[in-house]
Amino acid sequence: MASSSGSANNGNTEDSVPADNEDLMQMSRKKIEELSNTIQQCLSEGKRHAFWETQPVGQFADRGKDLEEGPIEPPQDVAEVRQEPYNLPKNFEWCTCDLNSDETAAEIYNLLTTNYVEDDENMFRFKYSKEFLRWALQPPGYFTSWHIGVRGQATKKLVGFISGVPAHIRVRDKVIIMAEINFLCVHKKLRSKRLAPVLIKEVTRRVHLENIWQAVYTAGVVLPTPITTSRYWHRSLNPKKLIDVGFSRLGARMTMSRTIKLYRLPETTVTPGFRPMERRDVAAVRRLLHSYLSQFVVAPELSEKDVEYWLLPIEDVISSFVVEDPESREITDFCSFYTLPSSILGNKNYSDLKAAYSYYNVATKTPLLQLMNDALIVAKRNMYDVFNALDIMENQTFLKELKFGPGDGHLHYYLYNYRLNAAMKPETLGLILL
Ligand SMILES: CC(C)(COP(=O)(O)OP(=O)(O)OC[C@H]1O[C@@H](n2cnc3c(N)ncnc32)[C@H](O)[C@@H]1OP(=O)(O)O)[C@@H](O)C(=O)NCCC(=O)NCCS
Repeated sequence: MASSSGSANNGNTEDSVPADNEDLMQMSRKKIEELSNTIQQCLSEGKRHAFWETQPVGQFADRGKDLEEGPIEPPQDVAEVRQEPYNLPKNFEWCTCDLNSDETAAEIYNLLTTNYVEDDENMFRFKYSKEFLRWALQPPGYFTSWHIGVRGQATKKLVGFISGVPAHIRVRDKVIIMAEINFLCVHKKLRSKRLAPVLIKEVTRRVHLENIWQAVYTAGVVLPTPITTSRYWHRSLNPKKLIDVGFSRLGARMTMSRTIKLYRLPETTVTPGFRPMERRDVAAVRRLLHSYLSQFVVAPELSEKDVEYWLLPIEDVISSFVVEDPESREITDFCSFYTLPSSILGNKNYSDLKAAYSYYNVATKTPLLQLMNDALIVAKRNMYDVFNALDIMENQTFLKELKFGPGDGHLHYYLYNYRLNAAMKPETLGLILL
């Protein structure tokens, strides 16, 4: 249950003052897309969910009922948690994946690179690097037992995967240790055989064995019941390539050269004192983040150890920057993005799309718009093709102005065994899952 299903960004919005038929057609297309999304959402909600209806999650039928906020089921005694793994279909077996083994990390990388999330039109597929997977799956206090694979019994080939990592997540004023569940994947040849529910039950069992009873996850599909739904926005950095590979379209009345000019960025950042984050900044960054994230309904509670782990730069994985006031030497602002390329499927000229994903950003002195523009400048300089951001936290305040266009994929956020008494607006969410 990872990031969004989609990356395709159908056209851009910057020059959308309706002037001629082409503009009107583009507007109608957008309206039709929005309508189709709404209809799909309604249909999904009317669908039966043979598995999810049996789980302690908010159910569609419960909406509007005045149910108490908090855990849906009380914790069990760990000794009473089922000791044996769930049964897999015959010819398959469980394995625990040790990412420290290069061979195992390569197996997970290969499974995901060929079978993980694609956009609706199957033009792009997420391509998480091995280093990224290690970063995402081995934070402080991680459990190897939560890195779960399914193999063919005879061939030992890895055909399924699901993972969790522990995290302190605050929901309003309660801090709860949860599992962040991610990277659910079943080989394309084994789809629609109800393997996913077995993987989900098995990771849940192993989470329970650690005396942890809540989880958080995201998905591109509608399941019972999102706590919020967000949308990806995309900022073209290399518009020619994005158009060539079908990620975006040339806007109405736009030529390629006008488009390139529209998205051009300066060579160097503008904020004095803007520099990569270093180990000595950890305490200051934690303070900034802690105070910033306190305004959101759901957000992580990060210790200094967590900040050190999640935010210190790792090449081609996580990039973080601080603004150090040239006079006072105080760290006043912070921004970060992670690197998640996608494979471009079936294109003769290009195989990979290099994408940056906005992570956590805190502006106290520098205007957020300027800080994010500096992040765009750095990403462009480092040859990223596109910069993506969700419309959560305060991102809506800069998306349009910095020339991000709305994508067509939605990302739904879910809690397991925790009920919120009302859905949240995306801008009240302060949590990013990888
Ligand atoms: C997601 C995936 C593992 C589901 O497997 P599948 O073979 O399509 O579906 P299965 O027959 O095994 O299981 C269907 C059940 O899993 C649920 N399910 C499907 N995708 C899910 C997801 N992303 N998160 C949680 N549950 C999911 C379905 O809703 C259904 O349960 P329901 O009857 O209660 O609605 C598989 O499609 C896949 O690997 N897709 C590509 C990677 C991907 O999208 N991963 C999820 C990232 S969020």
